[in-house]
Amino acid sequence: MASIFRDRLLAGKTAFVTGGGSGIGQRMAERFAEHGAKVMLLGRKQEKLDAAAAAIRKAGGTAETCSADVRDYPAIEAALKKAHEQFGAIDILVAGAAGNFPAPVLGMSANGFKAVIDIDLVGTFNTFRAAYEYLRKPGASIIAISASHATMPVAWQAHVCAAKAGVDLLTRTLAIEWGPQGVRANCITPGPTDDTEGMRRLAPTPEVRRQVEDHVPLRRFGTKDELADLALFLCSDAAAYITGAVYVCDGGQSLVRSSLRLAESH
Ligand code: COA
Repeated sequence: MASIFRDRLLAGKTAFVTGGGSGIGQRMAERFAEHGAKVMLLGRKQEKLDAAAAAIRKAGGTAETCSADVRDYPAIEAALKKAHEQFGAIDILVAGAAGNFPAPVLGMSANGFKAVIDIDLVGTFNTFRAAYEYLRKPGASIIAISASHATMPVAWQAHVCAAKAGVDLLTRTLAIEWGPQGVRANCITPGPTDDTEGMRRLAPTPEVRRQVEDHVPLRRFGTKDELADLALFLCSDAAAYITGAVYVCDGGQSLVRSSLRLAESH
């Protein structure tokens, strides 16, 4: 689906997207490219990255790839250096890589808990920390992908709750620390989003999906395009004075919150 924004808002800019090979990160990268940005996609699986970059190029955009795990700091550093060498200073940075599985605390080993903390929270730190040197200053916009789990406990999601609470506060802290250099830092908090790995894991059956929809005030899942347009807005000059914000795009789900008992029905 095309963007609701008509002008090319990001001509000449460079975007770096972790988790850019699939899902929400991929759609955000596509959106940035449609609007004129050169994009570097980072993810763990080269074949997914190749397919995502090929789709962007087919549509007339510019994309390169780098396969790395956000838990691996030197690998992230190298990828950011590569993006900087190829495309110049990084204007847009999205920390979109995430991991999740539904399990109660007693069904989760210490390593299982740590795996999600390491991908979601430490991975976001690694991405932002390693990127600082390569960000355009002033002017860069960095975006973390959070979840409503950051502010409301969700059974069977203790690892994600802990990680995303950290992601929100990390990002808002960076808004303070890096604001004087002209770097804006914001979070996007998606709700249940169609056609994503997260929802395939958390709402795997039509019945669970219906339960989720019944608890969303707008009575539907969100789309990756809606999140991509929000990211585009946050990277654009229209958001030049917005930093330290957490933008919730969840159809109102987090207002009522009786959903995401979904995990218990697994
Ligand atoms: N229930 C309980 N524990 C689980 C689990 C589940 N469904 N899935 C994985 N784990 C545990 C593993 O048993 C392992 O712990 P152990 O060493 O004590 O046995 C630990 O988590 C790490 O698993 P592993 O598969 O080695 O880790 P990984 O680093 O390859 O994968 C995950 C990380 C587990 C988050 C994996 O689901 C992943 O890669 N996800 C990425 C995609 C994704 O989740 N997308 C949705 C984003 S919202």
